[in-house]
Amino acid sequence: MTASLARRVLGRTGLTVHPICLGCASLGDMPETFAYSVPEEDALATVRTLLDGPELNFIDTANIYGFGESERRIGVVLRERGGLPPGIVLATKADRDKDSNRLDGDQAHRSIEQSLSRLGLDRLQLVYLHDVEYCDQDEVLGRGGALDVLRGYREQGVIEHLGLAAGPIDVMLRYVDLGVFEAVISHNRYTLLDRSAEPLIERCDAEGIAFVNAAPYGSGMLAKGPSAYPRYMYRDAPASLVARAFELEAVCRRFGVPLAAAALQFSLRDPRVTATIVGMTKPERIGQTLELARLALPEEIWAALEAASE
Ligand SMILES: NC(=O)c1ccc[n+]([C@@H]2O[C@H](COP(=O)([O-])OP(=O)(O)OC[C@H]3O[C@@H](n4cnc5c(N)ncnc54)[C@H](OP(=O)(O)O)[C@@H]3O)[C@@H](O)[C@H]2O)c1
Repeated sequence: MTASLARRVLGRTGLTVHPICLGCASLGDMPETFAYSVPEEDALATVRTLLDGPELNFIDTANIYGFGESERRIGVVLRERGGLPPGIVLATKADRDKDSNRLDGDQAHRSIEQSLSRLGLDRLQLVYLHDVEYCDQDEVLGRGGALDVLRGYREQGVIEHLGLAAGPIDVMLRYVDLGVFEAVISHNRYTLLDRSAEPLIERCDAEGIAFVNAAPYGSGMLAKGPSAYPRYMYRDAPASLVARAFELEAVCRRFGVPLAAAALQFSLRDPRVTATIVGMTKPERIGQTLELARLALPEEIWAALEAASE
């Protein structure tokens, strides 16, 4: 049985979203991260396809993606449409300064003002505090720091909901302890190749915080295959990980299903995962992703993949 693709409530935010979210990191043209460039026309066409389609309604970006290019490109399409169309949920992230890695109160303020201006919006539905592991924790959490500034924006209604998006699970669990976040994004840590987000997923599930799983393909290898794209989490993958990806691919071949379908459905079928963020940079990817999500996989494949993952 395939996972339900019905829209659902995004944890404490109350926003209603499709379980597949369009991830706009690679779409912002980040060749140093993804090892290829994305022309503006492809990016704009991908966003237009989402807005024109009947199904997906959830878009994820960040101030820092493409150093502003992702938000700028999304903003081009939103301006064409006269703003955010009804029913669309757009999330962005408050980011550190790219040169100094500082994320203090002033930087959080700059980040939000830049996002509003690039996107052409006067309020933001959901803003995640982003990549805090690179920053000085006192500057983020201290009095007048980034988190205080974001809460101030939320009190004013400029930000409607506040989330957390970061990497290391222990860091994320400490931030969740603060009790202020309505949704969290973890990335590359809940895939066919990595389950280390498990304690965070359990915690979010217990507390009614939306767990949003980004990068189900490990940034591409589990979609394009380990021969074509032997990278995981934005860098060349170690040989042992590539070998495991080949084993997973062999299991999928035995069952006659694409590796990408198994990688995507691994995330979609977990009831604790509210939404899965998939990076896509071509308009046809939206239809392909929905097809991968709907493909009926034999139940036995999960045990076989589990065995190959160990
Ligand atoms: N801290 C955080 O908050 C955080 C961290 C990481 C990611 N994220 C979010 O999660 C999103 C997804 O992560 P990600 O983009 O890094 O990794 P991903 O979703 O695991 O993989 C994305 C890559 O897979 C490729 N792909 C997708 N569908 C495909 C298909 N049907 N066939 C072949 N290739 C396919 C895309 O390539 P093409 O270019 O060919 O379409 C894309 O670049 C990001 O865009 C971002 O919005 C958030």
